[in-house]
Amino acid sequence: MKTKTVVLISGSGSNLQALIDAQSNGETAISIESVISNRPGVLGLDRATKAGITTQVVDHTLFESREAFDIQLKATIDQYQPELVILAGFMRILTPAFTNHYAGRMLNIHPSLLPKYQGLHTHQRALDAGDDRHGVTVHFVTAELDGGPNIIQAVVPINTNDNAESLAKRVQQQEHIIYPMAAQWFAEGRLCMQGNDAVLDGSILPTSGFVMDARSQ
Ligand code: GAR
Repeated sequence: MKTKTVVLISGSGSNLQALIDAQSNGETAISIESVISNRPGVLGLDRATKAGITTQVVDHTLFESREAFDIQLKATIDQYQPELVILAGFMRILTPAFTNHYAGRMLNIHPSLLPKYQGLHTHQRALDAGDDRHGVTVHFVTAELDGGPNIIQAVVPINTNDNAESLAKRVQQQEHIIYPMAAQWFAEGRLCMQGNDAVLDGSILPTSGFVMDARSQ
C-alpha cells in the first residue's frame, strides 16, 4: 500500500518534481494525491498537471486572517485523507492549530543546517557569516517555525568564489536527493516523530538528523 500524500507548494516546485520522479521510478512508495499551492499560476502546478496529479489553489491573499486561510487549507488537504503532508517550498507561516493537526505526519525542507538560519535568505546569511559549510535540512513540522525535529541534513561546502545563487544551486541538488529519501523512510514505516524527537529504525536521531556530507563529492 502506498502512502497517501499531499504536497504543498508556493513556487517553482523543483522539490515536488524530485518527489514525482522518485514516485514514478519506484524509488519512493508515496502516492501524491494532490498538489496544493497558495499562489495561482506557479510552475509547480504545471509540473503536477503534467504528471497527471490533481491540483488546487488556496490563495492566501483572499483570506482575512492567517487562521481563516489555515482552516480552508486544512479542509482542502483533508479531502484526500493523507497519511503524509509534504511542504515543498511552501512559504507560509502556519498556525499551531494547523501544525498540531498534522503532528508527526508533516515534513518540511529548509535550505540551511537547522537550527542555523531559520527564516529567509539563508544562503546569503551563511556567506555573510563566513561559514565554510552550508546545507539543507528535512524536518518534522511543529508549531515552532523551522523548529521541529531534524530528520536528515545534507552538508555542502562554501567555496571562496560562491555567491548566494551558486550556493543555492549546490544546496538544491542535495534537496532533490534527501527529500525523496526522507519521504521513502516515512512510507516504509521506518521514520516517525516521538515527542520532540525524530526516530529512524527505532533509534532517536541526533539533533542534526541523519547527516549526509556532500563536501567530498
Ligand atoms: C527550496 O530551496 C526550499 O528549500 C525552500 O524553498 C525552495 C523551494 O524551491 N524552502 C524554504 O525556504 C522553506 N522555509 P522549489 O519550489 O523549486 O522546490
